[in-house]
Amino acid sequence: MSDVPVPLTPTIRPATPADLDAIIALDQEMTGMSKPDYWRGVFDRFGNGSEGCILVASDGDRFVGFIVGEVRAWEFGSPPCGWVFALGVPQDVRLRGVGSLLFDGLCERFRQAGVKTIRTMLARDALLIMSFFRSQGMVGGPFIQLEKELAG
Ligand SMILES: CC(C)(COP(=O)(O)OP(=O)(O)OC[C@H]1O[C@@H](n2cnc3c(N)ncnc32)[C@H](O)[C@@H]1OP(=O)(O)O)[C@@H](O)C(=O)NCCC(=O)NCCS
Repeated sequence: MSDVPVPLTPTIRPATPADLDAIIALDQEMTGMSKPDYWRGVFDRFGNGSEGCILVASDGDRFVGFIVGEVRAWEFGSPPCGWVFALGVPQDVRLRGVGSLLFDGLCERFRQAGVKTIRTMLARDALLIMSFFRSQGMVGGPFIQLEKELAG
């Protein structure tokens, strides 16, 4: 018997309101925080695909992951580019290619929207998500992030 995980080939499709609870639950599992209001807001903004995009992976009836992104233009002097700002696959189906399929699906949406670059931001110590994005061919970009704690 081999321990090599068998690839999963879920359907990648736009999210519907019926996916909201599964996304909230998976995000809570990953981050340790429950943010139902935040996710409802994301659905309100991106659910119809006009401002951004929420894609879901379904294996039969089972929810096996999500990705959220949007095209943003001219902030920080940047021409339009696609941002991926949330991504999750349940623990028990990881390392079977689902995250890659979600990423590919989002890249295709961005291509259709006419942008040529995909960006993200992550914590320096987030090694898992760093390994994943590096595996997708992402490398350090031309911007750096600056911040300052506000006193008082
Ligand atoms: C990152 C994540 C989406 C990857 O999903 P996945 O379905 O396991 O990804 P894939 O199977 O497509 O993996 C693609 C590549 O990513 C890299 N990778 C994925 N998991 C990894 C791990 N645990 N360690 C090292 N590299 C890893 C590998 O290079 C892998 O390719 P390989 O299997 O050929 O080695 C998933 O691990 C996850 O949901 N993690 C939690 C994310 C999170 O914390 N989100 C909150 C902030 S947005």
